[in-house]
Amino acid sequence: MPVSRFTQAPTPPRIMMVSSEASPWAKTGGLADVLEALPKALAQAGHAVCVVIPRYMHGFDAPSERIVDSMPIALGGAIYDVAIYRLITDGVTIFHVDHAGLYGRNGLYGDHFGDFGDNHIRYALLCKAALEISRTLFPVDIYHCHDWQSGLLPVYLRAFDAADPSFLAARTVMTIHNLGYQGIFPREKMDDVSLPPWLYRPDLIEFWGDISFLKAGLVYADALTTVSRRYALEIQTPEHGFGLDGLLRARSASLTGIVNGVDYSRWNPETDRALPAHYSADSLGGKTECKRELLRELGLPDVALDRPLLSIVSRFAYQKGFDLIAGIAHTLFQEDDVYLAVLGNGEQKYEEYFKHLRASFPDRVGLRIGYDDALAHRIEAGGDIFLMPSRYEPCGLNQIYSLRYGTVPVVRATGGLDDTIDAETGFKFADYNGRELLETIRLACRAWHDRAAWTRMMQRGMAKDFSWAGAAAEYSALYRNLHPFAG
Ligand code: ADP
Ligand code: GLC
Repeated sequence: MPVSRFTQAPTPPRIMMVSSEASPWAKTGGLADVLEALPKALAQAGHAVCVVIPRYMHGFDAPSERIVDSMPIALGGAIYDVAIYRLITDGVTIFHVDHAGLYGRNGLYGDHFGDFGDNHIRYALLCKAALEISRTLFPVDIYHCHDWQSGLLPVYLRAFDAADPSFLAARTVMTIHNLGYQGIFPREKMDDVSLPPWLYRPDLIEFWGDISFLKAGLVYADALTTVSRRYALEIQTPEHGFGLDGLLRARSASLTGIVNGVDYSRWNPETDRALPAHYSADSLGGKTECKRELLRELGLPDVALDRPLLSIVSRFAYQKGFDLIAGIAHTLFQEDDVYLAVLGNGEQKYEEYFKHLRASFPDRVGLRIGYDDALAHRIEAGGDIFLMPSRYEPCGLNQIYSLRYGTVPVVRATGGLDDTIDAETGFKFADYNGRELLETIRLACRAWHDRAAWTRMMQRGMAKDFSWAGAAAEYSALYRNLHPFAG
């Protein structure tokens, strides 16, 4: 029985987040961190919040309860029978949508052969299932969609379900975490996901002869957000717009940038269980211990304890600026007495590059190819200088984690890196070129040798507060403005 919107006022709007990732069940990057922490912060602010994600193979061990055995979802002339699992944690209800054939796989989006060929069906089904969950299990006022995987939800809602009284007053928010991933599929796939031919128009979901799920969301959602203020401006330019800058300019009145927060219950050097020693801004001894252990773990010599240790934790992707690093690393290690700790995985050419670098400078470069959450924490703690020379960066979380861990960031002034790092807490360079990166790294390394000034810089970073409460308040205000009845 749908809940009347009128009886709910003036309670805060009820929110459903729809996403392909959420920690700790499914993570490839920062999206998962956001989907774990933001709902929690919104629940603390008084919202009823649920999150809908697929039940992938790695989520099978979630302590959830199977609450619906059979929820038939019509899509593209077929009926997909999904089951729904639920768990409630920190005041947030998490729904895992189960369909063994579509989601019960090892990778999230693909395997070593590439992207799964049925990703359009997998994520269209997620959107349809989310709508059905909201109709039958968890009535909501606002659907908050994240990235292309949930881009079709506003289309289904507006184009097909508009007259259903369950959805009449519902509003949609679409958050862009990364414009570089758009969910582009051939036009012929429209039938598979119940998209009628009339939607194939340049002002709707057509994109250079194909269809784009992200564009669909950007056209149909009531409000658009992205994850930093500067990125909200950058994506309206041809340089960073990935072909959608015109649409984003047209919708600029509905687009805001809200900088991501940090879950300090997970990222805090005073309590972090992954670390060999703990420390705080007033008592930094444990950080040296973390550095010593990290050097050991990565096979780097003890002498590096008295030299600057650069560090990287990253998806290996075009976005992250590794071409710049490749252009300068040999010069840096030949001419400067510095060390490097790297953790990452992703595109093979970058994995090969870092293996080559490690082989060329085995005493200087420590490398772990793979995904390792605990090591990511130890690198945040054990490094001196955190490198993020991204080509573009919607928000970036690791540089904000670095601040709290007293690891001074060297970043390119783009997107969220520019919003979150200033001259008091880190080092920035503007142009995407190797010379600027090299000069900035050298500047940071020289500053590192002035131990007293460096400690003050670390402490300024450690004192910064990026907790989620601030960002959650901004989202809460947005939801309230959007929703006609909720207070
Ligand atoms: P993005 O989402 O673009 O990858 P962010 O900086 O927003 O970049 O978030 C990255 C998140 O993924 C951080 O929590 C980071 O610690 C984590 N991460 C990235 N690569 C790895 C890895 N190889 N092993 C463990 N954690 C990783
Ligand atoms: C994306 C972006 C990253 C951002 C994250 C969470 O993966 O690449 O910059 O921090 O989403 O919003």
